[in-house]
Amino acid sequence: MGRWEPGEGAKRGNVNIRNTLRVRGSRLTMPETTAAQAVIPVRIPRFKLPRTAANPAFPPGPRPRYPGQFLVEIARNPLAPFIVMAREYGDIAHYRVGPQHLYFINHPDLIRDVLVTNQKNFRKSRGLERAKRLLGNGLLTSEGEFHLRQRRLAQPAFHRERIAGYGDTMIEYANRAHSRWHDGETLDVHAEMMRLTLGIVSKTLFDADVDAEAAEIGEALTTAFESFNFAMLPLTEYLDNLPIPAVRRFKAARARLDSTIYRLIDERRRSGEDRGDLLSMLLLATDTEGDGGRMDDTQLRDEALTIFLAGHETTANALTWTWYLLSQHPEVEALMHAEIDSALPGRNPRYDDLSSLPYTRMVLAESMRLYPPAWAIGRRAIGAFQMRGFTVPARSVLLMSQYIVHRDSRFFPDPERFDPGRWTPESQAGRPKFSYFPFGGGTRFCIGEQFAWMEGVLLIAALARNWRMTLVPGHPVELKPIITLRPKHGMRMTLERRAVR
Ligand code: HEM
Repeated sequence: MGRWEPGEGAKRGNVNIRNTLRVRGSRLTMPETTAAQAVIPVRIPRFKLPRTAANPAFPPGPRPRYPGQFLVEIARNPLAPFIVMAREYGDIAHYRVGPQHLYFINHPDLIRDVLVTNQKNFRKSRGLERAKRLLGNGLLTSEGEFHLRQRRLAQPAFHRERIAGYGDTMIEYANRAHSRWHDGETLDVHAEMMRLTLGIVSKTLFDADVDAEAAEIGEALTTAFESFNFAMLPLTEYLDNLPIPAVRRFKAARARLDSTIYRLIDERRRSGEDRGDLLSMLLLATDTEGDGGRMDDTQLRDEALTIFLAGHETTANALTWTWYLLSQHPEVEALMHAEIDSALPGRNPRYDDLSSLPYTRMVLAESMRLYPPAWAIGRRAIGAFQMRGFTVPARSVLLMSQYIVHRDSRFFPDPERFDPGRWTPESQAGRPKFSYFPFGGGTRFCIGEQFAWMEGVLLIAALARNWRMTLVPGHPVELKPIITLRPKHGMRMTLERRAVR
């Protein structure tokens, strides 16, 4: 539990972290932080842990104590088996579920081999294939030529200049939160962040004001998400037509989401208006490089729902964990406040201010290191390939976890410590690229990455300018890793209004 260090080469020496930062001409010393409060315990399952593989064609890995243990553990807490694999077996571990070979890949170079170097040999793995039950054939779940076409069509909506234009909306929604909140009030910051980011993605990408419906949609998304755990289990496709409660709940949630999305599409088609947002772009986009076709309503629904989902839940989690970490590290919070107060004297941030908020960005980067909103990525091999001297058979599933690699002491000494100082350019330069991959990599990397950085930094700055948040004493903080890494019991925090400088 708590701290762990993966196998070989774990102690490669400290990277050189510069501990001062320049903010508007003055040099600020970065604080020494402590680890204790950042550690959220995970219950570690007990597998049999042989040191060598029964079949030398495969890397070693754990074995179940009873039939089906792996699926039971995954259903309990999908993150826990990943921790066992890395802690006991290091860079590569093998596990077999029936005919299915699973490889747990825990080294940046191996992750680069899968996500980038040999990406043509991989498709998305079962978890995301199953996500098609909710997302259909959108960007996150489609494959091959079709995915490339859809990515070409959506890409212009995420270009830097266009994203810059979304900054004002982000701040407007932060202001709405600001005017809802009261000094001394206690609220669930996770629910607040979900509401905020859902409002922003709806407005910026669909020009829709769903603020009023946000709570209901949030609930539908949670239910649909929870069914993903269930959807990972074998044979669930055959259960789809049975009236069991989990299936019924999932279908009701999907219908609720569909009705919102189809309403947005329908309104837009009828108005025929080009509002310059993603929905207009997708509606009007013609694939000039490919088949010259346009998208029908079902395809539009799949893309819109994908971006709705991918575009707010992750950012809301990143922000929630950031507020939590700040509340546990007043010395980091104070330095961040100093930067914000100095960069934004008496006013809200704008897109142009991003370059004056380097420490705020480092805080967000460090928060996504410890609590990566997308905590694991899976791929299925199309053909056999070589890895560390082993032949990985076709159809094997390769699993890579940001949560695991981001806490590897070879790349992040004293890994449990929340230390934004790790994100100076000098410190970053000393680490391999895939030691940190909150947004994935290769052709499937997150299309919303720039959007997310901008939204994250602007919202932190706009909210922290006015508010401090303290964790309610005794509030249980536990991880809930479904597809994203949520706080299991929400995040109850008390608001304290800051005197605006
Ligand atoms: C902190 C925030 C975010 C995180 C951590 C994150 C993480 C990720 C990751 C890891 C992937 C790759 C999944 C894989 O390879 O299997 C991904 C893909 C994707 N993300 Fe994000 N994301 C974030 C925000 C956003 C935002 C704001 C949007 C849209 C507005 C978005 C839209 C997407 C889409 C559409 C894909 C699929 C891309 C493709 O396969 O072509 N994400 N995201």
